[in-house]
Amino acid sequence: MQDKLEQIQKEALTALEPIDDEKALEKWQVKHLGRNSALMEVFKGLGSLSKEEKPLVGQEANQVKIALETASEEKENRLNQHKIYLALEEEQIDVTLPGRRTTSGSLHPTTHTLREIYRVFGDMGFQIYQSREVETDQYNFQLLNFPLHHPARDMQDTFFISSAEDRGDDPLLLRTHTSPGQIHYMQEHTQKYPQDPPPIRIILPGMCYRYEQITTRSEIQFNQVEGLAVGEGITFGDLKGTLSNFAHRMFGQNVKTRFRASHFPFTEPSAEMDVGCFLCGGEGCSVCRGAGWLEILGCGMVHPTVLNNGGFDPEIYSGFAFGMGPERITMMRHRIEDIRYFWANDLRFIDQF
Ligand code: DAH
Repeated sequence: MQDKLEQIQKEALTALEPIDDEKALEKWQVKHLGRNSALMEVFKGLGSLSKEEKPLVGQEANQVKIALETASEEKENRLNQHKIYLALEEEQIDVTLPGRRTTSGSLHPTTHTLREIYRVFGDMGFQIYQSREVETDQYNFQLLNFPLHHPARDMQDTFFISSAEDRGDDPLLLRTHTSPGQIHYMQEHTQKYPQDPPPIRIILPGMCYRYEQITTRSEIQFNQVEGLAVGEGITFGDLKGTLSNFAHRMFGQNVKTRFRASHFPFTEPSAEMDVGCFLCGGEGCSVCRGAGWLEILGCGMVHPTVLNNGGFDPEIYSGFAFGMGPERITMMRHRIEDIRYFWANDLRFIDQF
């Protein structure tokens, strides 16, 4: 019996020796220490032994059991240690490797231009008013004195929004310009101050939408910055002074400006302001298409009907308004030839500013 126990121990330890993973160790434990192992058979057989043999064999079997359990535990510890070692090895950090560069974002070129516009008009006492992008036909057109069959109202220019209720002549739409904000602001203002409303000096920036063919020069979405000044005794001279000052601060003291007569339904008289082409200095080049001038905004004296719609008595009050496209201004300043870059979300474009 003693030989047998020795044999059991030797076999088990020999089998344990080459084991190098947990799975194999578990199998080994089942085979050599489990319920059906040869060692357990010995324990089970103790009952049939003589009185003298029983304690001797029992003691020895116990010693074998302890020896195997100890060896198994040691093996387990070693395997664990090895696992930790491997993990550390794998996660080792090579501090001599070059660091990973962090990229810092940059502002969208339109944001740069918008901020400059805010700064220049802010210095002149203009405040910013944000109006809504979803408008009604009434505010986008009718209250701005667009005659019913004005070409700008054509379906192709406007994104109309379908609504559950039938709104008749006043459908919902995406604003095609920032001008409807003029009416909202004037109405709020004159409701707040029914008597003697204080003068207004605001700019209204924001996104506009037009149902147009996308080309290098026109997008279906773009920003505008609207301006509005209303008060007693405001003249076309104030308009010219304000906008010339803006052009000089925006494009440089030496830039030339000119006003050309134009037409907008909501202003009378209306004009467009050009600045001398800052690339060719007026000689004529590809950017100004030979004209020597670049058109940068539309403007005019607020039409009496529009003043009236805003709650101002046109007999007492007058005002001027203007509207410009910051993307267009950005294109001129940076010689960007395609407006589609602005909303293409290509970082290679945006990172340049
Ligand atoms: N709303 C005009 C447009 O989208 C721009 C404009 C022109 C705005 C003259 C004005 C203005 O306030 O006085 O083309």
